[in-house]
Amino acid sequence: MDFVKEEYRTLAEDETVRNNKELMELTGYNSKQLDKLPPDAIMGISCGNPTVECDLLPGMRTLDLGCGPGTDVLLCAMKVAPDGMAVGVDYVPEMVERAVQNAKKCPDVDEDNTDFRVGDLNAGINFPDNYFDYVTANCCLCLLDQPKVFREVKRVLKPGGYFVFSEVTVKKTLPQKADDLLQEAFGNQVIPKGNDVASKVFRTYIALAKGEAIVPSEILDLLKEAGFQKVKIIVPRHVPGTKKYPEAAKSTPRMVSEKLTPDGITDFKKRLDGVLSDLDINDFASFDTFSSQKPDR
Ligand SMILES: C[S@@+](CC[C@H](N)C(=O)[O-])C[C@H]1O[C@@H](n2cnc3c(N)ncnc32)[C@H](O)[C@@H]1O
Repeated sequence: MDFVKEEYRTLAEDETVRNNKELMELTGYNSKQLDKLPPDAIMGISCGNPTVECDLLPGMRTLDLGCGPGTDVLLCAMKVAPDGMAVGVDYVPEMVERAVQNAKKCPDVDEDNTDFRVGDLNAGINFPDNYFDYVTANCCLCLLDQPKVFREVKRVLKPGGYFVFSEVTVKKTLPQKADDLLQEAFGNQVIPKGNDVASKVFRTYIALAKGEAIVPSEILDLLKEAGFQKVKIIVPRHVPGTKKYPEAAKSTPRMVSEKLTPDGITDFKKRLDGVLSDLDINDFASFDTFSSQKPDR
């Protein structure tokens, strides 16, 4: 079973994960953007606001890798209308369906300017060469085969087009004790239940322990190897909520597990509390936005 896919499927179908404006603002979205989105598009599962860094104009074509509930696609669609097209691809059909419904519920978006497709990005990007003005991604690249996807992004971008993405990055390795416990959490399929600050912080710890969070220097090198220019980090950001809600950032969230009994989860949570409450996630991870450009020729 693809554990990540199952978690996103569960999230897509969870009707309580919506209207999470506070977490989205902490991730970098502004209230002007959020006020234009339907509540079901405001899930709080992103790690930056890449489209706000793009100079989008009417008529452009954009692609969001791992579009989730369509948040970033809808924001692009508002800018590229009336003649442009904002496309989103995701491998979870339930997420794509949620995005399609969100486009219908969004008064500022004409459905004709959006296109949502189910597809596994690791199998390639199913669009012609030199097709998009911008490609974006938000908390998805860490889950992908980066060298392969970077080559594909370069292929589908027009010459001079931009690739802008937000991602969880590694600052330093976790202490052994924390890493061991997080590996245990992963082995027991322990996942946070909610979408609050504590859950976001815990998901970030899991991404670090699983080796999914990206190492900035490695990603910058991979982008250059794929042939991108003007490769840089444009927005480094604190892990959301950790400054505003220091207590929430230090407590482990409500959790569920496929393998542990309820008592087992309570016991495991106590052990985790003991270790993570002494750490600051910002020493180990940050949420960064990267930009790069396909050369003109
Ligand atoms: C954090 S969400 C993205 C949020 C989204 N950009 C938005 O605007 O709200 C990451 C998404 O990547 C998708 N994903 C992960 N691996 C994928 C893959 N191999 N191919 C396609 N989508 C993938 C997940 O299903 C999930 O919906």
